[in-house]
Amino acid sequence: MQNRLQGPHLNNFKICIRKFHIRQSLICISMTIFTFIFSTPTIASDSSQLNTRALAATCANCHGTDGKAQKDAIVPGLAGLKADYITEQMKAFKSGTRAATIMHQIAKGYNDEQVKQLADYFASQK
Ligand code: HEC
Repeated sequence: MQNRLQGPHLNNFKICIRKFHIRQSLICISMTIFTFIFSTPTIASDSSQLNTRALAATCANCHGTDGKAQKDAIVPGLAGLKADYITEQMKAFKSGTRAATIMHQIAKGYNDEQVKQLADYFASQK
């Protein structure tokens, strides 16, 4: 039994194992590359979604979670408003063309890109 596993048989076996390992490694490497290429956009979009939600959370204290105001709230909700309308109002608050008690100060803290993110986010809430 022991004799059979030595000599040429054992060498063949070793070569076979090595080839198998090389093939396994190649499969493994290509799988890793494949996973990396195809998962990167998902990670990117997850983090941008998280970023948008974090931005939107800064409005939640007054406008309600996800812009959904409580019943009888004094501050209006933002959920479901048109994105263009929200953007216009934020610009008007910033420039002072729309009078406000607080929003003129808040609006100044957000750049155009962030306002667009917020407007799209609240417009998509029902
Ligand atoms: C401290 C409370 C407070 C926070 C925080 C706040 N808002 Fe406001 N928001 C108001 C009030 C009050 C008004 C009514 C206008 C005014 O008096 O300033 C308003 C009005 C608005 C309007 C106009 C709504 C309409 O129906 O015309 C928009 C749009 C708006 N806010 C967007 C936002 C966004 C986006 C954020 C987060 C970046 C935010 N607000 C954060 C209090 C707040």
